[in-house]
Amino acid sequence: MIEVKGLRKSFGRQQVLRGVDLRVPTGSITIIIGRSGGGKSVLLKHLIGLLRPDAGQVLVDGVDATAMRGKGLDDLRQRYGVVFQGGALFDSMTCAGNVAFPLREKSKLPRAAVAERVRAALAQVGLEGAGDKYPAEISGGMRKRVAIARALVTEPDIIFFDEPTTGLDPILVNTIHGLIRELHARYRFTALIVSHEIPEIFEIADTVAMLADGRIVESGSPAMIQESSNPVVRQFIRGEPEA
Ligand SMILES: Nc1ncnc2c1ncn2[C@@H]1O[C@H](COP(=O)(O)OP(=O)(O)OP(=O)(O)O)[C@@H](O)[C@H]1O
Ligand SMILES: [Mg+2]
Repeated sequence: MIEVKGLRKSFGRQQVLRGVDLRVPTGSITIIIGRSGGGKSVLLKHLIGLLRPDAGQVLVDGVDATAMRGKGLDDLRQRYGVVFQGGALFDSMTCAGNVAFPLREKSKLPRAAVAERVRAALAQVGLEGAGDKYPAEISGGMRKRVAIARALVTEPDIIFFDEPTTGLDPILVNTIHGLIRELHARYRFTALIVSHEIPEIFEIADTVAMLADGRIVESGSPAMIQESSNPVVRQFIRGEPEA
């Protein structure tokens, strides 16, 4: 279980997170929604330990991750897989090299075992045979799938997805959502997904949480969010401009 308590973060005078409270139960799929620039990626970066908060806590199984340093933080990061916004593949490495990267960094597996895990991870996302291609040689949708394979390859307990489908056509969006659902059913990782795909993403969510004005203003089942009486939530999911 991941529990965020009173998380605050400012950059200069800009208060981005103003006391975020969020619970992500083990094995669930939680979606974070909210306006562009609202702080979703900043929140995710606190969860993976890339940013430190001004105040508040990120508890992972009861232990405060924001207080961790050195080996403790490294051990915690071993349990995470991350699909960064935009994919963030290394252009100078093949797809197989990209997927192998976290294994080479984090594990002491022999070369043959790494190669087998990479082959299996690429197959899981339907990219068997694409290992030798470079990111520039494949489509945007394939790059997203490589990024997902890279997040999966270490068999993490928790996977963070920052807009895994942005820029894809509607069919590919559904393909990626189906892939996440299928992988989740098989591996039961805890998933936290930032997404703008409303309402499509609701189909794979256990919980939807909306970030607005630096706080989680509402969270609940997709049905609850869709029927919310909170004007901020209603406006957002209907795509209405801010009043
Ligand atoms: N390292 C940083 N230094 C200064 N400001 C930052 C930094 N990171 C983010 N910000 C600011 O924090 C705000 C929130 O950014 P963030 O990337 O979290 O938005 P977002 O909700 O993920 O938006 P999008 O949906 O467009 O990805 C923005 O105004 C951004 O400029
Ligand atoms: Mg973002």
